[in-house]
Amino acid sequence: MLKIINNIKKKKIPLDDYINTCLYKYKSSYYEKKKIFGPRGDFITSPYISSIFGEIIAIYITNYFLEKKFYSFSILEIGAGEGVMARDIINTINKFKNINFSYFILEKSENLKKKQKKNLSKLKVNWIKSLDDLKCKNLFIVSNELLDAFPVKHLKKIKNDWYEKYVCYDNKKNKIISEYAKLKNKNQKIFKLVSKNNDFIEFSPSAIEFLNQIKKVLKKNKDNCFLTFDYGYLDNKFKNTLQGLKNHKKVSIFEDPGNVDITYLINFNLIKKIFNNKSNFDNIIMSQSEFLTRAGIIERLRQATNILTSEKDKLKLEMSVDRLIHPKKMGNLFKCLIITNAN
Ligand SMILES: C[S@@+](CC[C@H](N)C(=O)[O-])C[C@H]1O[C@@H](n2cnc3c(N)ncnc32)[C@H](O)[C@@H]1O
Repeated sequence: MLKIINNIKKKKIPLDDYINTCLYKYKSSYYEKKKIFGPRGDFITSPYISSIFGEIIAIYITNYFLEKKFYSFSILEIGAGEGVMARDIINTINKFKNINFSYFILEKSENLKKKQKKNLSKLKVNWIKSLDDLKCKNLFIVSNELLDAFPVKHLKKIKNDWYEKYVCYDNKKNKIISEYAKLKNKNQKIFKLVSKNNDFIEFSPSAIEFLNQIKKVLKKNKDNCFLTFDYGYLDNKFKNTLQGLKNHKKVSIFEDPGNVDITYLINFNLIKKIFNNKSNFDNIIMSQSEFLTRAGIIERLRQATNILTSEKDKLKLEMSVDRLIHPKKMGNLFKCLIITNAN
């Protein structure tokens, strides 16, 4: 934490650099040290709510390839946290006797990679260092809450000029503050992707670069697919959604750097434009609720509750599924994006 503050004391840095420093750069950064996930962490993600989430994704992936009569395929999970979803997907697909698949993980955090290797030690998983390391065809790329973990910039239009948010240290007040400074390079790529009526833009340059790499991987084989879940919205107009999370509560992103998760809501409209830009992909965006329901979560719940004998376990499972799909819980705020090559 001291290292992070000392870094800002030297000079002001762009907002996305500040977020990257807080989340990943040092051993004292958030993803590198903390027990982050689950009821005792700072936030809970869908795979932790119930293993039924990973099971349904496993069934979706398997059906995707079986419809094409492919019995052999590869899965790449990006940003696998502690490996909970990987475990559920692998265990589910392992039940299909005639299917042959490989599971790869690409993870940025060294700390989480270690946890994944420990938690998945009994399963066959390969860790890769970059998207270029993957040579396989029939590839399904999957991620949950990946894009919201990328650092963002804030751009603001004041009169006719664009300004960018920087983070600095106020020595008098003894605290971290932010201020806007005039944008040096006015020909930013982002302006080509957003509609003119925006006077505020929240976006992640590193996520855009990453998605462009995913585009290249998808193009390598016509049957490759990308499925990602995240919380977000679909409007053309950008919102300021950046927030800090600690112990399941919202806090300032400048409070206690390195001990607070910093996250934002994905503008799915922008993501769609990135995939449509000079490329030929089919893309579908739907709510998490719609995806899970269409993919059979209610039938799976029925099956599972028929097998369970304890009323307490049945109720627990029903409540978990409700949390995942109820429009007022995670069902609507969370969206899923499915990208395939256009035929
Ligand atoms: C919010 S966590 C979600 C973890 C997990 N998918 C889940 O649902 O519980 C974000 C994950 O993405 C990883 N991550 C962030 N940026 C990444 C990048 N550029 N490449 C690979 N992993 C990344 C983080 O280290 C972390 O594992």
